[in-house]
Amino acid sequence: MNILLIGSGGREHALAWAIAKSPLTKTLFCAPGNAGIAAEAEIVSLDVNDAQAVINFCNLQAIKLVVVGPEAPLVAGLADKLRAAGVKTFGPSAAAARLEGSKGFTKDICAKYNIPTGAYGRFSSEADALAYLADHPAPIVVKADGLAAGKGVTVAMKDGEAEAAVKDIFAGKFGAAGAECVIEEYLDGEEASFFALCDGKTAVAFGTAQDHKRVGEGDTGPNTGGMGAYSPAPVMTDEMWRRTMDEIIIPTMKAMETEGCPFQGVFFAGLMITAKGPQLIEYNVRFGDPECQVLMMRLKDDIVMLMLAACDGTLDKVSVRWRDEVALTVVMAAQGYPGDVEKGSEIRNLDAAGADPAVHIFHAGTKADGDRILANGGRVLNVTARAATVSEAQGLAYKAVDAIDWPQGFCRRDIGWRAVARETK
Ligand code: AMP
Ligand code: GLY
Repeated sequence: MNILLIGSGGREHALAWAIAKSPLTKTLFCAPGNAGIAAEAEIVSLDVNDAQAVINFCNLQAIKLVVVGPEAPLVAGLADKLRAAGVKTFGPSAAAARLEGSKGFTKDICAKYNIPTGAYGRFSSEADALAYLADHPAPIVVKADGLAAGKGVTVAMKDGEAEAAVKDIFAGKFGAAGAECVIEEYLDGEEASFFALCDGKTAVAFGTAQDHKRVGEGDTGPNTGGMGAYSPAPVMTDEMWRRTMDEIIIPTMKAMETEGCPFQGVFFAGLMITAKGPQLIEYNVRFGDPECQVLMMRLKDDIVMLMLAACDGTLDKVSVRWRDEVALTVVMAAQGYPGDVEKGSEIRNLDAAGADPAVHIFHAGTKADGDRILANGGRVLNVTARAATVSEAQGLAYKAVDAIDWPQGFCRRDIGWRAVARETK
C-alpha cells in the first residue's frame, strides 16, 4: 500500500526506515522530510498544516495509511480531518490529543480516574497560582498548560524559582500555551519513558526507553528535546511494566473511552519510578524523539502491521516482539542548541561512519545540497547502535560519532551513563 508519513525529525527518519522495510509498503511518501528520509521515502512538498492539501494528496496518490509523527498536527485535529475524508490515520483525534495538548486536562483525568500522579493545582490567574505556592514551598514544579516544545516546565528546587516561573507564564512567555498553569508536587525517583500502542479498546505495551533531557554531561544545563536515549530502560522491571499497564495505561485508555474521546495511536507516558511505584509525569500522544530511534532499532515485528492493527481495532490479536539486544542513540546538535544555532554547515563522512551494520545514523535537522549534507536545525543527527549491552552500544555509537566530520556540531559524551553504571556494578 502507499503510505504518507508526516514530520521531519530523527523520529520520522527512524519511522521511515522501519516502514520502508515492511512488505506491506509499496511507496512511502514523506512531508516535509529531511535529507536522510529521502533515502527511504519520496519527499513531497506539502503544507502539513493545510489538512485539505494533505487529503488531496492522499486521494491523488491512493494513500492507504497516514502516519503522523509530531504532536502539533494531532493537537490541531489533522487525524480527525483525514479520517472524516476516509483516510486511515495512525494517531489520536484532537480531543484525545488533549492528553499532550493540555497538562491540566491530563491531571484532571488522573484525579477523576485515580491514576497515580503528583498532587496538583490548576490556575488561570497569577494571584491564585502565587497563593497556592505560599502553601506549597520548593521543591515544586510549575508547568505552562499547553504545548511549549518542552520548555514550559520549571522544576523549582529553591524558594523564589516557582514564583518567577508563574510570573513568566502569566506575562505571556509561552503565548497561548501559558493561558493556564499547573503546579505540581515534585516527584523523586528515576525517570523512564513507557510506550503502548492503543486502538481505543486494547493497549499493547510497546517498549521502554530512557532519555537524557539536559544539554550537558551529568544531566546539567538547560532542558532540550532530548540528547540521547537507550532502550530498554533497566529501571522498568517486569513488575514496573505490569504496574504501569494496570495502574496508568489501561485506566487512561478506559477513561478516554468513558469521556467520549477514545485514544488511537501511541501513548508515550513519561514516568517517575518512585519509592511508591510508577507515577505519571506527563503524556505525549506520539513517539518520543529520540526514543523512537532506539525502539525502531529493536523492533522485530512489522511496524506497518502494528499501526494498521491500531487503526483497525485489532490490537487484541497482535503481540510485539523485540530483539534481545539493546539500542542506544547519541544526538549530535548544532553548537548553541537548545538556543539559537547557525544553519548550513557541511557534515562529512556520514557513509563511512555508519558503515557498521550495527550502526544507523538517523537524520533530524539536515538538508541536501546536491551531494552535500548540510545542518538545518538544532538537533541534527542521531547516531544509533545496537549491541548486547549498553556499554557496547555506547562504544559503537561514539566510534561512529568520532568518525563524523562536523566541527560545528557537538554531543553529550555520557549517554547511557545510568545503565552503564548498572552493568559495571
Ligand atoms: P515534561 O515536559 O512534563 O516532561 O517535564 C520536563 C521534565 O521536568 C521531566 O522530564 C522531568 O525531568 C521534570 N519534571 C516534570 N514534572 C516533574 C515532577 N512532578 N517532579 C519532578 N520532576 C518533574
Ligand atoms: N524525548 C522526549 C520527547 O519526545 O518528548
